[in-house]
Amino acid sequence: MKKRLFALMMASMMVMGAMVGCGGGGSDAPAPTEGDETQTEGDAAEGSADMSNVEIGVCIYKFDDTFMTGVRNNMQAQADTLGAKIELVDSQNKQATQNDQVDTFITKGMTALAVNPVDRTAAGPLVEKASAAGLPIVFLNREPEPDVMQSYDKVWYVGAKAEESGTMSGEIIADYWNANKETADKNGDGKLQYIMVTGEPGHQDATLRTEYSVKALEAAGIEVEEIGNDTAMWDKVKATELMNAFITSQGIDSIEAVLCNNDDMALGVIESLKANGYNTGDASKFVPVVGVDATAPALEAMSNGSLLGTVLNDAENQGIATTNIAAMAAAGQEITQDTVGYEITDGKYVWVPYVKITAENYKDFQ
Ligand code: GAL
Ligand code: CA
Repeated sequence: MKKRLFALMMASMMVMGAMVGCGGGGSDAPAPTEGDETQTEGDAAEGSADMSNVEIGVCIYKFDDTFMTGVRNNMQAQADTLGAKIELVDSQNKQATQNDQVDTFITKGMTALAVNPVDRTAAGPLVEKASAAGLPIVFLNREPEPDVMQSYDKVWYVGAKAEESGTMSGEIIADYWNANKETADKNGDGKLQYIMVTGEPGHQDATLRTEYSVKALEAAGIEVEEIGNDTAMWDKVKATELMNAFITSQGIDSIEAVLCNNDDMALGVIESLKANGYNTGDASKFVPVVGVDATAPALEAMSNGSLLGTVLNDAENQGIATTNIAAMAAAGQEITQDTVGYEITDGKYVWVPYVKITAENYKDFQ
């Protein structure tokens, strides 16, 4: 019974991995049929992948983060599916707290670690702790430096290529501009005056989304002028305050687009626009706003027309991939596409693809 269940689970993981590949991950391995899987990888992995001693200690940089809440809920659900134990703790945005939490996990005898670092440049000492205890460690969402990734054979990273999301969000604004030339260029100077609302400084997703969204606008042949750029630390309330300040200093009609590094900040910007009578349905009072993540409230904002578009940051597959790697490594399995269901790049990285979300497809993700 148990054997059969595990084989079925491996089959569904393989199918999922292949789907990730189709979405842009680069894998062209065909999805195996359930029957094939039961006789091959499923059986092979099942023979040695005993989950009874797997205990994954997970640190999340802070629980009060919309996107990371989605990831951690998926990690918990996947551990339950696998029959592995998992404990998730809130690092409360403090690296010192997180370091202590890792020490505690090791002292308690956890058999794998998964860490969403508070400060990605502080991953080195965490790898040293894991390595001294002989434990696998999987980082997620905040990418450690390459030398840290190479410093130990049992370290992996699960994330998404931030460049991709930057490009996609820039393309959404470019398409809007090109389709609405008359109205979108409010001052008629032929240039797109935009505001950039960025995530936490130093986070690869903030740096690269910013850079690549502007590159995408330029690649579409649009002349751009940045009239405001500041961080709102991924946070909705901070973004509302920031947008209020930009509206006061620039005047709302001089703002032709707002590019935000995530959805919470895009929704914060929209609050401010709405308070000024914009983005509430009157086509003559609209500022195109784009975010990243495709959270439930962002998709809701797309359905009422206040948010132009977003990019799916796939919390489900990032959560599942992280849990699978931690569990399989703790169970003594080699980490390969066959054992974890996701393509492994350079032996250490799982890149989960982003998906562009526009008026045409948002309903498929709600
Ligand atoms: C990003 C995500 C943000 C925030 C951040 C936390 O990938 O888009 O909303 O969750 O990770 O590190
Ligand atoms: Ca203009």
